[in-house]
Amino acid sequence: MSPSVSVSATPSRPLPIIIDCDPGHDDAIAIVVAAKHTELVGITTIAGNAPLSATTRNAIIMRDLLELDCPVHSGANRPLVRPARHADYVHGKSGMDGADLPEPSGPPASHDAVGWIIETCRQREGIWLVPTGPLTNIALALRAAPDLANRIAGISLMGGGTFGNRTAAAEFNIWCDPEAADMVFSYGGPLIMAGLDVTHQFQALPHRIEQVRSLPGHLAVVLADLFDFFSGTYRARHRHIEGAAVHDPCAVMALTHPHLFTREFAHVEIETHGTRTAGMTVIDQRDLKEVPDANCDVLTGIDADAGWQVIVDAIAHFSH
Ligand code: RIB
Ligand code: CA
Repeated sequence: MSPSVSVSATPSRPLPIIIDCDPGHDDAIAIVVAAKHTELVGITTIAGNAPLSATTRNAIIMRDLLELDCPVHSGANRPLVRPARHADYVHGKSGMDGADLPEPSGPPASHDAVGWIIETCRQREGIWLVPTGPLTNIALALRAAPDLANRIAGISLMGGGTFGNRTAAAEFNIWCDPEAADMVFSYGGPLIMAGLDVTHQFQALPHRIEQVRSLPGHLAVVLADLFDFFSGTYRARHRHIEGAAVHDPCAVMALTHPHLFTREFAHVEIETHGTRTAGMTVIDQRDLKEVPDANCDVLTGIDADAGWQVIVDAIAHFSH
């Protein structure tokens, strides 16, 4: 594999991507950024922040609010082998509490996200998969269609880190389905990881939320309200955080605005057995020749002010 992942997006040739998500306040913002800066081929949903019915409802609502014509397909309602676990303590029962949201315009295009991912990536090579929730759908697609590893352009995911948030060792997306994450991190193709080390540098600070709220139109009010709720639960639970870590857009911007990030190419594997460490992304940072070959571009830093401007501009693009 090349020394690190290179992406070749240009405004005239936006990268084709599929977002696999569990909206989720930050997933919603990832959809906005993707809709502005990529060719958003489709949205697939996974159980995670909330049950599958809720994350699918929220994805359709976001698709509708942005007036997109891309399909939403719902996927797995639970991890490969572990029970479904959610994060209403962060996102609320609906998965996107805190705003006056419209009713979804209709049902998902199908309940077979995995089959749709396989069919779509076989029909059109060079699509980036951008998972921002548990990795169950992606793992199921790679297991059912191993040829996908050579047909997709790569995987840019939000998850992991050198520390956890659901446990001391594990970040929520990986913690939900470590077995799926193990399959994804060992798939062999280009892989970018936006983990907590970078996403905690990217916070929805009060003045940044006010930038969104000052934009014209109803969408800005809805998204500012979502940011306020999301930051409220973060501040209530953390000692030193001033605003919610806006995790998921980092996985999109790693492709659309790679210059905003620093990164290290490293060997990363997933702990699937530990009583206290299951779901840990084990990033090998040893300066030893014996270290296994690197398999993942681990994002380590972000120009947060410039990144936030990308979000504000994307919201402004859909505000009227
Ligand atoms: O740990 C943060 C991740 O878990 C984000 O993707 C958030 O949306 C939740 O899914
Ligand atoms: Ca998410």
